[in-house]
Amino acid sequence: MAVLNVNIDHIATVRQARLTDEPDPVWAAVQCELAGANGITIHLRQDRRHINDRDVRLLKQTVACKLNLEMCMAEPIVKIAEELKPDQITLVPEKRAELTTEGGLDCAKHKKRLAEVVKRMHKKGILVSTFIAPEKTQIAASARTGCDTVELHTGMYANAKTQRAVNKRLAELSRARDFAMENNLIVHAGHGLTYRNIGPVARIKGLCEFNIGHSIVARAVFVGIRQATAQMIELINKFSIQNS
Ligand code: PXP
Repeated sequence: MAVLNVNIDHIATVRQARLTDEPDPVWAAVQCELAGANGITIHLRQDRRHINDRDVRLLKQTVACKLNLEMCMAEPIVKIAEELKPDQITLVPEKRAELTTEGGLDCAKHKKRLAEVVKRMHKKGILVSTFIAPEKTQIAASARTGCDTVELHTGMYANAKTQRAVNKRLAELSRARDFAMENNLIVHAGHGLTYRNIGPVARIKGLCEFNIGHSIVARAVFVGIRQATAQMIELINKFSIQNS
C-alpha cells in the first residue's frame, strides 16, 4: 500500500511572507505526523525562500517519522545533508527564478557528481532518491549511480488537459515504474498531485510513496493541516487498496 509524505515547504512560505516566526513548519510536521503521515518532506533551497537552516535542524530533532530532504547537488547543501543526516535525500534540479521545481534532475548528464553524492550519503546511512522525468535514460542513470529510489515526476500528468493526454501520462508512469523496478529501484512519485487527481496515480501498483505539498497546505488553510493530511491519506488508501 502506498504512503504519504507531506511537503511542508509552503507553511514556511507563509511565514516568510512576513519574515516572522509563524506559522512554524515544526508545528506543522507534528500535526502531519499525528494525522498518520509516513514522512515529512522539506526542500532546503539555496536561496532559503521558505525552509531555512533552523527548520531543517529542528525538524531533524523532532520528526519521528521519515524525514526526506529535497535538495540540489551544490556542495554547501550536500555538506548540510552530511552533517544533519535526514533519513533520505531527494535530489532535484534547482533554478533560482523558478516558482517550484520545474523539471526532473538530468541524472545522465550529471552522473559523475551524482555518483559522488550517492557515495557520500550512503557513507552516512542516508537513502538517496532522484526526482526524475519518467524516462528510461534517467532511470538507468539513477540505477547505475547507486541510487536507492527514484521519484517519478507527476507534473506532466497533473497538467494534462484531455483524457487522452491523461491516459498517455499514466501509461508513461506505469512503464517507468516497470523499468525502475527491473533495475531494483524503489519507486516514489510526486509533484502537482491534488485531492482531485491522486486517484489514478494511487492505483498504479508499485508507486509506494507520494510526496505532496501545495494541495495539502492549500486545504489546510480551511480545515487545518491535520485534517487535510488525513483526507489525503484516506484517498491514497482507498485507491491503492482497490489495487492490492
Ligand atoms: N516532489 C518534489 C521532488 C518536489 O520538488 C515537490 C515540490 O516541492 C513535490 C514533490 C511536491 O509538489 P507539490 O507541492 O506540487 O505537491
